[in-house]
Amino acid sequence: MTEEPTPEAPENPEGEEPVKQRKNGLYPGVSDELAANMQSGWADTELHDLEPVEQAPHTARRRAALSARFPGDRLVIPAGNLRTRSNDTDYGFRASTEYAYLTGDQTEDGVLVLEPEAGGGHTATLYLLPRSNRENGEFWLDGQGELWVGRRLSLTEAEKRLGLAAKDVRELADELKAASGPVRIVRGHDAALEAALADKITGERDEELRVFLSEQRLVKDEFEIGQLQAAVDSTARGFEDVVKVLDKAQATSERYIEGTFFLRARVEGNDVGYGSICAAGPHATTLHWVRNDGPVRSGDLLLLDAGVETTTLYTADVTRTLPVNGTYSPLQRKIYEAVYEAQEAGIAAVRPGAKYRDFHDAAQHVLATRLVEWGLVEGPVERVLELGLQRRWTMHGTGHMLGMDVHDCAVARTETYVDGTLEPGMCLTVEPGLYFQPDDLTVPEEYRGIGVRIEDDILVTEDGNRVLSAALPRTADDVEAWMARLTA
Ligand code: GLY
Ligand code: MN
Ligand code: MN
Repeated sequence: MTEEPTPEAPENPEGEEPVKQRKNGLYPGVSDELAANMQSGWADTELHDLEPVEQAPHTARRRAALSARFPGDRLVIPAGNLRTRSNDTDYGFRASTEYAYLTGDQTEDGVLVLEPEAGGGHTATLYLLPRSNRENGEFWLDGQGELWVGRRLSLTEAEKRLGLAAKDVRELADELKAASGPVRIVRGHDAALEAALADKITGERDEELRVFLSEQRLVKDEFEIGQLQAAVDSTARGFEDVVKVLDKAQATSERYIEGTFFLRARVEGNDVGYGSICAAGPHATTLHWVRNDGPVRSGDLLLLDAGVETTTLYTADVTRTLPVNGTYSPLQRKIYEAVYEAQEAGIAAVRPGAKYRDFHDAAQHVLATRLVEWGLVEGPVERVLELGLQRRWTMHGTGHMLGMDVHDCAVARTETYVDGTLEPGMCLTVEPGLYFQPDDLTVPEEYRGIGVRIEDDILVTEDGNRVLSAALPRTADDVEAWMARLTA
């Protein structure tokens, strides 16, 4: 469906850009009679008894922490805008993580502004495109009008839902231009707003804001932990869905797996949290295989790395490497069990007070030991680790923080993240892997084209950790038994 073509705007004597909406409130090509007709005869649909979103107390606390960090500065956190996919179609909108984290809202073009107060602190205001009134044609003639894309909240409704004062976003750029004093904006989401603020912002100051917002999310609150568990639970169901259709995938392609998991993600959540990696056979050795257009063959492994993103934008990130025919070959099992052992060592190193790097080091030690044992690299193990020689086959880090972004808190400083210490409430993946490229002449031929990764989502607790994805089997025996049960 496309918008009905609008006839040319009438001549504009001032030589201004033709505008879609005429000054008298009518659109070109719409008769006065039709315009008048469309203005009336509509029920009042204002929602009066809206409850705040569940995360409202948390978003208020997060904004208070942000306010305390940047006293006296005006802080601008945009949701982002729609992006064109082609011609007049857009990509599905996903609000910026920072905006959703601080507001609980996900509306395109929304902007959170923290305005500094003379006496200290900030006033938070959400700028949104409100419901269009029925006085002009926008609601039914504009491509973003609500008869085309759906009803928006009125500003009063938004205030009730989000526990925040709300204003019309169309006033924001002028307000910001007129304001004096330092401004910081989260860049990369709203080019028009950045342009409007061009003479007031600096890259260095904006980066400090971005880093703070990334580090603020390192430790998850109770609401977030609940959402991450929900994301993981949906993901586990999505993995079961895939096992049940492996026969159909063999008759078609990896795309059947991608589509099957996507169905679960869209029905139970917002979307997938990242492009699903549905890598059968040698594709499993390509770390981010998302083309997903290859064959699925009995006797091969399927590496499925996928995560459901909840409607509140928290994502799981789970990998299982499954034998397509339900049974690992002896070599596949040997490699799988080495990766499993590495993952066990990694998970055991996740506890409060441990260094972030510990779980990576623990897992890499196991993998290097096996690679030496198998004669693929010359020992001793300490030499291999020191020179990083195992990385030819292990390739990537053993995990990362997980949250609203799959690689969460990505701009946190090294000292708070990679060189930091684990704390209760942090959530991370532990995901060792071994990958033998199809053209790797340094390994025996039978290894070539085998890739195995096992990835679980781990919460750091007061006394150790909790594997949020424990519902999915991990040992080779348990995976085979689980597949047999699901396909019986
Ligand atoms: N799915 C990407 C990753 O595991 O980091
Ligand atoms: Mn993953
Ligand atoms: Mn991951």
